[in-house]
Amino acid sequence: MAVDLLLGLQWGDEGKGKIVDVLTSKYNIIARFQGGPNAGHTLVFNGKKHVLHTIPSGIFHDDATNLVGNGVVIDPVIFKKELDKLDEQNVNYKTSLLISRKAHIILPTHRLLDAASEASKGKAKIGSTLKGIGPTYMDKTGRNGMRVGDLELSDWKERYRALADKHEAMIDFYNVEIQYDLAELEAEFFEAVEVLKSLQFIDSEEYVFQAQKAGKSILAEGAQGSLLDIDFGTYPFVTSSNTTAAGACTGLGVAPNQIGEVFGIFKAYTTRVGSGPFPTELFDEDGATMAKVGHEFGATTGRPRRCGWLDLVALKYACQVNGVTQLMMMKADVLSGFKSLKVCTAYKYKGEVIEHFPYNIEPENVEPIYTEFEGWSEDLTKMSDYSELPKALNDYIAFLEKALETPITIVSVGPDRKETIFR
Ligand code: GDP
Ligand code: IMO
Ligand code: MG
Repeated sequence: MAVDLLLGLQWGDEGKGKIVDVLTSKYNIIARFQGGPNAGHTLVFNGKKHVLHTIPSGIFHDDATNLVGNGVVIDPVIFKKELDKLDEQNVNYKTSLLISRKAHIILPTHRLLDAASEASKGKAKIGSTLKGIGPTYMDKTGRNGMRVGDLELSDWKERYRALADKHEAMIDFYNVEIQYDLAELEAEFFEAVEVLKSLQFIDSEEYVFQAQKAGKSILAEGAQGSLLDIDFGTYPFVTSSNTTAAGACTGLGVAPNQIGEVFGIFKAYTTRVGSGPFPTELFDEDGATMAKVGHEFGATTGRPRRCGWLDLVALKYACQVNGVTQLMMMKADVLSGFKSLKVCTAYKYKGEVIEHFPYNIEPENVEPIYTEFEGWSEDLTKMSDYSELPKALNDYIAFLEKALETPITIVSVGPDRKETIFR
């Protein structure tokens, strides 16, 4: 059976966690394929909010298996905190949570290296979540990394020491002020590793292959968004993994011809957290309203998210590189009350009008060209059927579907599981 993918089409935080949770009842296995605790996936049900960082968003469903794939990077300390939260909710993950032996481990010194690298960049910093993501993927591709499977070896602590010592020398090389007590960080790390080791480590690509063969349904859950992809995002202001559809093949061991539906998630407007270009960013009342009504604060770092209009040039690009087959539009409720809405349909790029996403979208090169739409004032959060949606919103949806040549099959009208309209 083919593997379906769900991924973000913008700069992350589109609402992936919510939709994975909503869709989990249709799947046997939910599998995260990349990223790590830089992600913050929010789920809301029964009046309670849950934020997951590394653990797949299907974990609250008793009958689903949740797999952390080889493409993910795991910080045992943060992972343990996530498990502690699940324990508080009496979630039984002992048999339903599986971890790939090939997933890489974030060491405390990776986090320190992330901080040192950012400090050394000054104003040009990426705005990293400081979770050690970049340095861990660098060690992976540099063939120095530590993997989950290494924890089963008797000499894993010696391997750890050698790598951590090397990192300390690298931190010195950056020559920046960062305060840390490595002994304290290591005590916490070693304790968390023991907790991690109590979970099931598996050869996940074999597991996924056999599950497919047995007709099990699998949903691959992405983290971040397409514009943060290491290859196709707004480099260097990106994350260090392939967040796009191809990342699911390498991050789980799924062959390209085994991919089924590709669900692309986007907000009805745009947000970004961290540094980097954002052509449709708003610095006015409208942007402030989106931030306020949409509660736009990072689920991982708490930083305010930058807000702006929907960027169709970027969205079309994301649909293309991912092969999106179905779109899901999130946070439509946040736009209620705007007299008019704008959508960027082209860029003025170095004086020329273009409709494709160019190499460089820095503000000196790109000026967005907008199409304006009538707004709506109805409160959408109480609506549960497509037929109830206001005409202006239906017109907005119809325009996007036509421009993106892809159906919008879910319209989300609130953070709760139930606030989801299927079309
Ligand atoms: P993710 O990283 O893609 O899983 O998204 P985040 O959880 O970081 O950010 C999405 C935020 O929007 C969370 O606070 C969600 O609870 C919230 N959210 C999701 N869908 C909707 C929606 O349709 N309307 C509103 N108002 N909030 C939503
Ligand atoms: P989810 O899965 C939004 C951003 C950071 C920074 C850049 C690099 O919740 O959508 P990193 O820590 O990866 O080195 O940071 O990427 N970023 C995210 N922004 N949502 C995320 O994940 C993000 N993960 C990383 O803000 O700009
Ligand atoms: Mg998030």
